[in-house]
Amino acid sequence: MNSKPLIYLAPFQGITTYTYREVYTKHFGGVDKLFTPFFTGIQKPNSLAKRAFEFNFPTQNKVEVIPQMLSKDADEITRFANFCEKKGFKEVNWNLGCPYPRVANKKRGSGMLPYPDMVGEILNQVIPNISIKFSIKCRLGYFSDDEIIALMRVYNSFNISELTIHARIGKQLYTGDVNIGAFKKAIAISTIPMVYNGDIFTIDDFEKYNDGLFEINNWMIGRGILVDPFLPMRIKGQVDANLVEQSEKVYKFITDIYLAYRKKNNDKLQAIGAIKELWGYLAYSFSDPHKVLNSIKKTSSFDKYEEAVAYVFKEFDWLGSEGRLYEKKSKSHNI
Ligand SMILES: Cc1cc2nc3c(=O)[nH]c(=O)nc-3n(C[C@H](O)[C@H](O)[C@H](O)COP(=O)(O)O)c2cc1C
Repeated sequence: MNSKPLIYLAPFQGITTYTYREVYTKHFGGVDKLFTPFFTGIQKPNSLAKRAFEFNFPTQNKVEVIPQMLSKDADEITRFANFCEKKGFKEVNWNLGCPYPRVANKKRGSGMLPYPDMVGEILNQVIPNISIKFSIKCRLGYFSDDEIIALMRVYNSFNISELTIHARIGKQLYTGDVNIGAFKKAIAISTIPMVYNGDIFTIDDFEKYNDGLFEINNWMIGRGILVDPFLPMRIKGQVDANLVEQSEKVYKFITDIYLAYRKKNNDKLQAIGAIKELWGYLAYSFSDPHKVLNSIKKTSSFDKYEEAVAYVFKEFDWLGSEGRLYEKKSKSHNI
């Protein structure tokens, strides 16, 4: 195993918000970079307004923040990158991985991957006009994992600071297995520092990929961290607390996020909506995820939500990622 892997928090639209990142990094260590969920439509007037305050924080609790954008417009990407540089960020990330049809059908996100010439043309216009580090997050392809070969040739000819590949194709969405063989083919021809992303839910998963991908030292983890916020520290051997102590820490963490969302939403009930998305993952660290989720999901007032959370922490055992319940769910439902 690499002695010092770097671990990046994957971006999740609507979940790994500024608030989540702030509270997460206050309570837990182990993460070396934070990626924002993508910004898009950034050239329209006021389109950045809702999340504008985020650009004042190039670090959160001393962890570097990387703003991500989703765009196929070279001018827009250049403007975004230069704006981020002025705000003090060190790197921006281009999203070529989003698989959702309403995005991909317009040749955006992973929908651009079958068109390496288009990727090359955009990079050709952007890279000479920026001086901030420019990284890319993509998949192995949209229709087929062969697409990564032509893409690597394009990426290699530009100054790309890091390339994260979620080792699936766009058409898969989040189903089926990751394709390590195709990821290795990309490593073999890459001249860019590479980051592996996909299906690291437990220490065992990490060790499996770490053994198979000896060239890789940097890892992006998403759902695994949402399910078990201790995961990066577990991987780095930094968790001494027993399961009961962990559960107490998670209780404090989730309470802090809840309070922060209430503050941000001026005590409107939508605060609960935002946090329920996170519970959709976190529930899988408890002994009975379905009962946990049902208890939380049905709440429709702050009092009921708080009661439900207290009930969950009292009645169910915290197992963390070692309970492997999210893995079981994703294998059986194929999601
Ligand atoms: C609800 C949801 C929202 C996501 N939002 C983004 C996003 O804004 N930008 C991005 O690059 N990836 C996004 N992703 C993909 C994740 O960052 C990550 O690549 C994917 O979950 C695979 O990693 P994992 O197996 O470690 O979770 C999203 C995934 C989900 C399920």
